[in-house]
Amino acid sequence: MLATIDIKVTRAANSKLKEIDFDNLPFGKNFTDHMLEADYINGEWKNVEIKPYQPLLIAPSNAALHYGQAIFEGIKAYKDDQDNAYIFRPYDNFKRFNISAERMQMPVVPEEIFIEGMRKLIEMDRDWIPAKPNYSLYIRPFMYASDEVIGVKASDTYKFIIILSPTGPYYAAPMRIWVEEKYIRAAEGGVGYAKAAGNYGGAMYVTAQAKKNGFDQVLWMDAKEHKYVQECGVMNVFFIVGDKVLTPDLTAGTILAGVTRDTVITVLKEMGFTIEERPVSIDEIIAAHKAGTLKEVFGTGTAATVATIKEMQYKDYNMQFDISNLATTTEVKKRVDDIRYGHAADVHGWMYRV
Ligand code: COI
Repeated sequence: MLATIDIKVTRAANSKLKEIDFDNLPFGKNFTDHMLEADYINGEWKNVEIKPYQPLLIAPSNAALHYGQAIFEGIKAYKDDQDNAYIFRPYDNFKRFNISAERMQMPVVPEEIFIEGMRKLIEMDRDWIPAKPNYSLYIRPFMYASDEVIGVKASDTYKFIIILSPTGPYYAAPMRIWVEEKYIRAAEGGVGYAKAAGNYGGAMYVTAQAKKNGFDQVLWMDAKEHKYVQECGVMNVFFIVGDKVLTPDLTAGTILAGVTRDTVITVLKEMGFTIEERPVSIDEIIAAHKAGTLKEVFGTGTAATVATIKEMQYKDYNMQFDISNLATTTEVKKRVDDIRYGHAADVHGWMYRV
């Protein structure tokens, strides 16, 4: 049974909802009326509060700003045709958040704050959940070190916050991908499996270089041999080769254990595919492309959902994929969306009622 916790609630005097153009919702630009905030002080969580969305007051000596003890999650809420609101697989993100917390020497956030606080916050801002295909309410829980000290050590105090953002598609168009062979995202023993803020900061220079050359995202490879693919931008990656689906396995601890990744694997199995979760080398992908057996490539992520990849460049070898016939990508996305928008039975218990 869920322990209860007092959540103080202060409502916004005026809603910003009417100012939002729900036909134009770029990812992560608009925020709802309320946010949840909690403090970790003296070994316990306190001051749990839902209040109007507002700036934070941060000291220049804030430890997270200097040493990067900061983690986050990405989750989505949807509405069905009867106006019921649901959060998609929040317990999976809750578990992963606390795995990230442990790796970054941060405290665990309890279920009654992470899950129940999120549910309550969304209940208050439920009118902000867009009710149309490819749209949703993006939920961003995050935690950062809040000690005001620049000595290098794990902070004693932390802030946990949840903000909400109504959003449309993240990648609207099929993507061109640069396969990176010099820079790396994560090495074995590092923090690649954690949703640590610095993993994203560290990718920005390389992504900017790829963008200068006309690509949308970077496909990372392993740190040791620069040979095995890891993940792609903010997504896990899938290759349909012949009648099999290949996706990098999680055992090296260098790849984020995507909740959408797991969802798509489950649905692909239901569609009758054999999934091979194992090291996938770029040489194998190139060989499949040359042999004409590499049929579809796509990425998965909470923000990205299921995103089509139309081209990959590795050194001077260019791979173009036929995006006029994306039978599997389209079908898997449809099946997942049908569950999310309440058009198909939720047989796996993925939808958490708000
Ligand atoms: C998500 O898909 O939720 C992510 O974390 C990607 C994000 C950095 C936009």
